[in-house]
Amino acid sequence: MIDQYGRRVTYLRVSLTNRCQLSCTYCTLQDEPAEVMTPDEIETILRVASDRLGFRKVRLTGGEPTLRRDLPDIVRRIDAIPGIREVALTTNAMLLERRAAELHAAGLRTVNVSLDTLRPERFKELTGSDGLADVLAGLRAARDIGIPNVKVNAVLMGGVNDDEVADFVRFAATERIEVRFIEHMPMDSERVERWKVEPREVLAALAGEAGVQPLPARQDGGPAERFRVGEATIGFIHAMSNPFCDRCNRLRITAEGTIRSCLLTGGEVDLKSAIRAGGSAAEVERRVEQLFRQAADMKPPIYDLQREGGIAMRAIGG
Ligand code: GTP
Ligand code: 5AD
Repeated sequence: MIDQYGRRVTYLRVSLTNRCQLSCTYCTLQDEPAEVMTPDEIETILRVASDRLGFRKVRLTGGEPTLRRDLPDIVRRIDAIPGIREVALTTNAMLLERRAAELHAAGLRTVNVSLDTLRPERFKELTGSDGLADVLAGLRAARDIGIPNVKVNAVLMGGVNDDEVADFVRFAATERIEVRFIEHMPMDSERVERWKVEPREVLAALAGEAGVQPLPARQDGGPAERFRVGEATIGFIHAMSNPFCDRCNRLRITAEGTIRSCLLTGGEVDLKSAIRAGGSAAEVERRVEQLFRQAADMKPPIYDLQREGGIAMRAIGG
């Protein structure tokens, strides 16, 4: 599917729940628990997305997607769709030690672990939980079971965790796990960039330590700008300073079952009601296809943080 600005939309992010065990400082907006979609409904949506519209990559997000017991079933069904080349997961990894083996067996090949600090005390301050050891065990379990692409996402916040960059780089080297530093996007109602960090300065500081080599962009054209620092592979996701809207290839399904045209700006269409409205399988599929096309038409050329405030990342899934 091509949108009105010529962008090829092939990547679908599906939020499976808005529940999460953590309450991270930048994600505190509380929603009512969403009435989520069933594995059957998710499969129907993804078959249409793949077969009729050319989607090739699916990322399961939340809230925290591993809170759904049926997650392996969902992964297996999506992985069985011939057009889908990659099923990925974004998770806090708290439950991953227990679930990595069944998720790997179900076909999961990419796991991004959200982890903003390597210090237990700070983890507690940032997330409200004592779970750092569980997160580390979870991400190691995913790597060790043979999931080939396990990465860490660290949202970098000036004055909060930007003193840990060198620790994260060491972690990336010793654990053999890519760490991506993400610019914080102020999504609360004030939209103030109070934790702004300059990636250039972070890089300059690292260059002094170990030497920094730029790496080629990844094949799938993900947004991270990647570098080799000694034995470590790191990346920066310039969500604020250099937004990648011109290359945006995504649509999102929210936990409530709407298609969202942009992370931040732009409209939503109600997919779940369309699926639950009944009719033959062919009718349902036609309606789903129609709604995807509508949502793609709503994709704005660039996001506008000033227009949207106080939206809940945990319902959209990042
Ligand atoms: P890979 O596919 O592994 O490269 O990951 P990804 O970047 O697609 O997904 P992930 O869930 O790891 O998200 C990484 C970060 O990118 C998020 O924390 C967001 O800050 C940012 N991000 C994700 N989607 C968008 C988007 O559509 N627009 C902008 N501006 N930022 C986004
Ligand atoms: N700005 C940037 N990244 C964010 N994430 C959640 N909220 C924000 C924000 N306000 C990250 C999570 C997760 C990814 C999907 O989005 O840490 O890794």
